[in-house]
Amino acid sequence: MGMAQRSGGLTLHSAGAGPNRDRPYGWHASAASPALSGWSHRHVLDLASFSVADFTTVLELAQRFRSLPVASGARKLPALQGRLLTTLFFEPSTRTRSSFELAARRLSADVQSFSPASSALSKGESLLDTARTYVAMGAELLVVRHRCAGVPRSLALGLEACGARVAVLNAGDGLHSHPSQGLLDLFTLARHFEPTQPRPASLQGRRIAIVGDILHSRVARSNLWALTACGADVVLCAPATLLPDAFADFVQAPPPGQALDPVVGRGRVTISRSLEQALPGVDAVMALRLQKERMQQQLVTSFASYHRHYGLSHERLALCGRPVPLLHPGPVNRGVEISGALLDDPAISLVEEQVRNGIPVRMALLYLMVASEGSGAAI
Ligand code: MLT
Repeated sequence: MGMAQRSGGLTLHSAGAGPNRDRPYGWHASAASPALSGWSHRHVLDLASFSVADFTTVLELAQRFRSLPVASGARKLPALQGRLLTTLFFEPSTRTRSSFELAARRLSADVQSFSPASSALSKGESLLDTARTYVAMGAELLVVRHRCAGVPRSLALGLEACGARVAVLNAGDGLHSHPSQGLLDLFTLARHFEPTQPRPASLQGRRIAIVGDILHSRVARSNLWALTACGADVVLCAPATLLPDAFADFVQAPPPGQALDPVVGRGRVTISRSLEQALPGVDAVMALRLQKERMQQQLVTSFASYHRHYGLSHERLALCGRPVPLLHPGPVNRGVEISGALLDDPAISLVEEQVRNGIPVRMALLYLMVASEGSGAAI
């Protein structure tokens, strides 16, 4: 019998010293562990429905995965062996799709990828019928990205209505939500403040600035729910064309479509129109891309004038009054949201760290959504 250890809410059993064939790292999570039994999200569609306990569970599990050799790809964990994940991306993606696929492979899942261009959608098949086709092939988790807000939710509801046993994970829907990005941003910030024990409390009382095209950003919306749930205050900074005043009330209780806010005592959201006003005293800065493809009209005079007023550089970041980390979900318009020199400065830029952290965070989500549905698979 091995020793049992507690990693926050997750009970991990050691099978003894060193790897063995059945348990490559000598670890497995008990299906009856508090983390798994407390996880109630069949689908992950947004972060407005996440409680502080949910954020804690994801951060702890991601930290656990990150600390294993599997995080670097050295070995695979057998947790999702024989389980099928399908990525259904109706919008381009560099990071999110490959990060989910890598996360799934590192947990030994089978991965199928759908390409809209060569699919039967072009022959008139509905999206729900396409999804049902993959479920019929055995998919247990659909990771869905679509340019229209609400598509992952309506797929989840449609699949439930026809009795399909499948979970849906929103990988970005229109302007609405991008939960896995919000979680990896939270993990990256929490690890920055508390490298060995990232948790929601690592953000309590911190002030985080989000600068850029907030109007078109599902990442900003997911971060608003996540950061305020952890007790951080958020200052949003952009010109009025990219940040309507109404965003000050974005994190309302209860969140839209929910009877209750699962979080008591969220952090505050304020709006600022200038970096000179927004940055002094903040603990971290997140820049967002100008999403030209989503703009119905010309909302900035030019990239050059945007950079002059809202672009981040070493000089501008000095307004914070102390060294602070810089995040960006990518893709970056280099020289527009962030100067090239700042983006490439490893002492400040966490952009590549965000990409790295995306893998253990997505492993945690896949594990919670799929393995906890099954037999308490070994990790
Ligand atoms: C997204 O899919 O929303 C990206 O991660 C952010 C962006 O496209 O700017």
